[in-house]
Amino acid sequence: MKVCIVGASGKLGQYMVRHALERGYEVVGVCREKSVGKLDAVKDRITIIPGDTNDRRVIERAVAGCDGVLTVLAPWGVRNYSSGTAQAVMDYARPGARLVFSCGWHITRDGKDVYTWQLRTFAAVFGVLARWIRFADLRDQVEACRRIFASDTRWTVVRGSDLEEGESQGLPVWSRHVGDPVLAGNLTRRVDFALFMVDALTNDELVHEAPAIVGRETASARAHAQRLG
Ligand SMILES: NC(=O)c1ccc[n+]([C@@H]2O[C@H](COP(=O)([O-])OP(=O)(O)OC[C@H]3O[C@@H](n4cnc5c(N)ncnc54)[C@H](OP(=O)(O)O)[C@@H]3O)[C@@H](O)[C@H]2O)c1
Repeated sequence: MKVCIVGASGKLGQYMVRHALERGYEVVGVCREKSVGKLDAVKDRITIIPGDTNDRRVIERAVAGCDGVLTVLAPWGVRNYSSGTAQAVMDYARPGARLVFSCGWHITRDGKDVYTWQLRTFAAVFGVLARWIRFADLRDQVEACRRIFASDTRWTVVRGSDLEEGESQGLPVWSRHVGDPVLAGNLTRRVDFALFMVDALTNDELVHEAPAIVGRETASARAHAQRLG
């Protein structure tokens, strides 16, 4: 399996590189030119293509011949970084390739997610402030996902809870809607978020799903597992 990791130098991206290499996959990583050094530890084992992830020529080169593409959707800046990246990946990945995108719980596919007032307030306040200082544009991540949901590519959008660092606890559990009791713990280890992304490449049950994930050792996930017996 040959996979492209778009946003390979970030925290999530580096974990995904590690998981993909552990599975014996051939890896092509895309990251900003100034971040190439963050991949020094694996530079002899992967192909690195430097460039902005929304640069269509960079993505065209990077995804050529790939069976799967793992894309970190980041809302940074106010120049349509997320939607530009997602669009380029969908346009240039080979037909039938598995496309797995990352985002957060704030993205909703069908409007049936139930959010706490804390999350709604955070998204609203951060959204306005971040756009005002031209730091990030959450609306563009929403637009990126709208385009993905409407596409006929073999996509999965993985929606991460709050994140923490730490040793792996195994594959996170997931649900279709934020607000489902199993997700109440709202915490996932970043290394396991990455594990879920890489695992999704070979899990056809997740095609055209937007799983909201949570760590399998959270109290809510454990209680759910107990209920299932
Ligand atoms: N952080 C959270 O609490 C949280 C919660 C839920 C879901 N998520 C989702 O998890 C994914 C990864 O998030 P993360 O927080 O773990 O961050 P991350 O992995 O460090 O990823 C951030 C990515 O954005 C790039 N980036 C950073 N600043 C940039 C800029 N100014 N312009 C362009 N690119 C820039 C980074 O590349 P460089 O290496 O070049 O800097 C990296 O590829 C995202 O999809 C996010 O929506 C995060």
